[in-house]
Amino acid sequence: MQIVNKIGFFDSGLGGLSIWMECDKLLPEISTVYLADNNNAPYGIKSEKEIIDLSIKNTEVLLNEGCDIIVVACNTATTAAISHLRKTYDIPFVGIEPAIKPAALNSKNNRVGVLATEGTLVSSLFKSTSQKFTKGVHVINLHGTGLVELIEDGKMNSLEMMTLLNELLDPFIEEAIDYLVLGCTHYPFLRPQIQEILPDSITIIDSGEAVARRVRSLAIAGGFLGSSPKMKEIEDHYKGEKIFYTNKSKEIMDEFMKEIDIRHTCEFKEF
Ligand code: DGL
Repeated sequence: MQIVNKIGFFDSGLGGLSIWMECDKLLPEISTVYLADNNNAPYGIKSEKEIIDLSIKNTEVLLNEGCDIIVVACNTATTAAISHLRKTYDIPFVGIEPAIKPAALNSKNNRVGVLATEGTLVSSLFKSTSQKFTKGVHVINLHGTGLVELIEDGKMNSLEMMTLLNELLDPFIEEAIDYLVLGCTHYPFLRPQIQEILPDSITIIDSGEAVARRVRSLAIAGGFLGSSPKMKEIEDHYKGEKIFYTNKSKEIMDEFMKEIDIRHTCEFKEF
């Protein structure tokens, strides 16, 4: 097997950067290519067929860039397209699904909330995972309609965002959940605002760290040497290069990356 040396990520836009950041903590030396398909955001209201077609397009770009593993850094694209991608391409794909299992297992009052896109919540993959792991647990699923659009428009810290979050989160408070699952990769960036609105009795979780651990073990199984002493001997070959592409606004993505403390800039690319 060829040594895993480059990891590709794609999302409908900026959200998958939350997954990229988790992976970067565990694998800082590996080369990465991140695709923000902002031109086609949001994915959450598109049909399954459209999301599969977009996922194929993104995968082809990442393969041309020489990626050995692809992280589908989007819950919506994972639920709609990952099985198709795995059948079609001969490389490992890592997806992300809402962390409903740990939420259901750890909930003390058996009342759990899931905030995700419509596409994720109506998918058969989400329904079957939810059925499997939430027996005897009351689950409140809500669409985070409008959140992705505001983040993509550079309005993460706006009054508009706060108003929308207050409206969207209110039913979770009414239902007295004790776990809230952030089931879209854009939402971890809203944690501070969500925490401000929800009572302390509600624990907020997402799947980013679990995905990063999976990516790391696949990279190591694929022969990536990380920061081991051996790597120093062949340092030039292993120096990680971080590439970020957007097919919409370089200015908005650069500004967003600065805000979340990613110290790289992006490039515009048509894809
Ligand atoms: N960030 C994506 C997700 O995890 C997609 C959101 C969207 O484009 O609607 O679902």
